Amino acid sequence: MASATLLLLLSFPFLAISGHSSSLQNYIVHVRRPNNLFKSDNTRLQRYYLSFLPASPTISSSSRLLYSYREAITGFAAQLTAEEAISMSSKPGFLRAYPTPTYKLTTTHTPTFLGLRSNTGLWHHSNQGEGIIIGMLDTGIASNHPSFADVGIPSAPPHWKSPCQLPPSAPCNNKLIGARSFVGKNASDFHGHGSHTASTAGGNFVGNANVVGQANGTASGIAPRSHVAIYKVCDLEGCSGADITAGFDFAIQDGIDVASLSLGGGSASFATDPIAIAGFRAFQKGITVVCAAGNDGPYSGSLSNEAPWLITVGASTLNRILKAVVRLGNGEVFVGEALFQPRKFSSRQQFQLIAPNSCDKHPAASLKGKIVLCESVANIPAIKAAGGVAVILKNNKIVGATIVLDLQSMPSSSVTFEDGAKISAYAGSAINPTASIEFCGTVISNNSSPSAPMVAYFSSRGPSLSSAGILKPDIIAPGVNVLAAWPRPISKDSNHNGESRREAEFNIISGTSMATPHISGVVALLKKAHPNWSPAAIKSSIMTTADMVDDRGKPIMDEKLKPADYFALGAGHVNPQKAIDPGLVYNISGDDYIRYICGVGYSDDDATIIAGREVSCARVGQIAEAELNYPSILVAMNGTKMTVNRKVTNVGEAGSRYKVEVESPKGVKVKVKPQKLKFREVEEEKSFSVTFKRIDGATELRRWAQGSLRWVSAKRVVRSPIVVTLKV
Ligand SMILES: *[C@@H]1O[C@H](CO)[C@@H](O)[C@H](O)[C@H]1NC(C)=O
Ligand SMILES: *[C@@H]1O[C@H](CO)[C@@H](O)[C@H](O)[C@H]1NC(C)=O
Ligand SMILES: *[C@@H]1O[C@H](CO)[C@@H](O)[C@H](O)[C@H]1NC(C)=O
Ligand SMILES: *[C@@H]1O[C@H](CO)[C@@H](O)[C@H](O)[C@H]1NC(C)=O
Ligand SMILES: *[C@@H]1O[C@H](CO)[C@@H](O)[C@H](O)[C@H]1NC(C)=O
Repeated sequence: MASATLLLLLSFPFLAISGHSSSLQNYIVHVRRPNNLFKSDNTRLQRYYLSFLPASPTISSSSRLLYSYREAITGFAAQLTAEEAISMSSKPGFLRAYPTPTYKLTTTHTPTFLGLRSNTGLWHHSNQGEGIIIGMLDTGIASNHPSFADVGIPSAPPHWKSPCQLPPSAPCNNKLIGARSFVGKNASDFHGHGSHTASTAGGNFVGNANVVGQANGTASGIAPRSHVAIYKVCDLEGCSGADITAGFDFAIQDGIDVASLSLGGGSASFATDPIAIAGFRAFQKGITVVCAAGNDGPYSGSLSNEAPWLITVGASTLNRILKAVVRLGNGEVFVGEALFQPRKFSSRQQFQLIAPNSCDKHPAASLKGKIVLCESVANIPAIKAAGGVAVILKNNKIVGATIVLDLQSMPSSSVTFEDGAKISAYAGSAINPTASIEFCGTVISNNSSPSAPMVAYFSSRGPSLSSAGILKPDIIAPGVNVLAAWPRPISKDSNHNGESRREAEFNIISGTSMATPHISGVVALLKKAHPNWSPAAIKSSIMTTADMVDDRGKPIMDEKLKPADYFALGAGHVNPQKAIDPGLVYNISGDDYIRYICGVGYSDDDATIIAGREVSCARVGQIAEAELNYPSILVAMNGTKMTVNRKVTNVGEAGSRYKVEVESPKGVKVKVKPQKLKFREVEEEKSFSVTFKRIDGATELRRWAQGSLRWVSAKRVVRSPIVVTLKV
């Protein structure tokens, strides 16, 4: 997102040409907090905000005012022209105005994959998140869905009093304890995204869940006994920053414990990004804010939601595959996948295999009775019309090994880039190429082929552009082919009839949107188990206990089938069972974050906008990015030697002892002081320093290198990823 000034300047050419006053746009306006806080007086607060609005003969000030915010930001949203926004800046108390940014949606087997089972481990200790409130800022909710039934859920906490903008036929209950809509008066989900994410985070148990017969099992959210509160801030087109801020504003006042945002708008300055600003205010109220990393991978520097006080979630695959095996006439076998698994298809029959020049137009050749090899973007109806019996959909090089499933209206098998290339080579060289597709249904495997988890191609990658000294994403979680609630049947195609048992109710979709609520659910479990932990402590425990290896015990791979780097993985793949008992946490206070904001070079006004109170950086001091007490370490080497400091809090037993183990990044020598930590008491804090020294003449460290630092006790490993870059 460009800065406010830039956006304002860009609208001037239009003004000059049109000659009239420019058109009204929705702006977010930040102002200084009035001295007398207007604590509980909404009318006075609104009057203060209205005083910034221009007097106009045609539009009344109150009809321009879209929202007057109390908690999420100090300021309001209003309709203004570009000139009005500029002239407003001379009013005392004004800080900044910019057109409201828009965000995109970053579109149950999963709990088992994450090691969650009834009455054991985390689900037992956290009582499945009972009593914790997860706030979903999304497209609303299909409140009649069985995932949101309140069987076995206690009533909402006494302080809770959010309204319920749901149809009377499916009103709020003990599971869905509130529903506010900021896009229309109806919090019903007309999209599907919001129901999917909400059921992933906090959905109740639903037996026999499946999509066209596949992925059958008991679906449940990660925190099935939690409460869910709905803030509908997005519609089919996307989400406006003003509506997101309003959702946050009420969510903070309502008293949620976790905020889950499966949406993103690309890299942005923290001081003009409502998610970063409202997210900081929520952090200060003890709310953990979980956000999607974005679907702009695999390109580097493609992250959304980079602020360090947010948990930024990337996406990876599950070990569940919907197997559709391709066998070629030459005997080669490839494991592909398909959502639609027709039972009547002749699995063993070899059909002629054809690879047309293009699959996106009406095919020239007759495809009658043939299996058609296509790029994954193919015109399926045209192929069907031309008589094709099935398609093999091959990934392109960018998508690589990530198989993202869509419901196709004809038999198909989606294969990886590598496998697709081999099938192409065969189709192009054999005299009479043939193939068969065998549909094998849903297979859950450990030691699986392909291995899992694997980073999805679309998962946005670091480095963070708005804060290059903080390693992002923080964590990865399942986000490929995730089954969860859906408001309506996903298929009206007669081909799919009879395959599904409950087709009205579930869908399998992919995105960092799907990964995000997995982490929100885990946060709810941790919050229940450790009610007094700060959001920073909760994040630390998720990060330092994450897995770095897949189900084969090998480093987690990316879509290129190469070990994923830390700009894709962050701290690794979430391991909820371990996160509940991290041993040590890297804690960070709100004040630390303000000093960090000053340290990154934001102005006093920026820091004031984010903090919601007057900040003078000269007075509060600064923390360099590398010195923020983050659970991961990213250092930009300046010269040949550099030292960073960290502080850990003992959240294990009194008397715990830890010894450091370091995996040094290539070309760098890492020294930790002290090497051992002994904690006499619980809650005790200990500091240590990490010194990085470039090895003389080492050529390995060209751009960046990665390693790790682990505090190891008899029972636990507290791991921080390390990335060293060269300052240019
Ligand atoms: C909201 O939408 C649902 C689903 O379409 C509908 O049943 C309900 O009547 C709507 N409610 C209002 C107040 O418009
Ligand atoms: C799904 O599983 C349940 C029990 O686990 C079984 O009764 C049901 O027939 C299965 N449905 C399908 C479509 O396989
Ligand atoms: C994986 O399979 C092995 C044996 O095949 C078994 O011992 C192990 O417990 C399995 N792991 C998981 C996570 O299911
Ligand atoms: C972390 O710091 C906060 C204050 O910023 C404090 O309330 C909390 O107790 C600390 N420890 C943990 C484990 O959260
Ligand atoms: C980088 O090095 C310069 C001079 O060598 C020093 O003034 C500066 O403080 C260093 N910056 C960091 C972040 O260490």
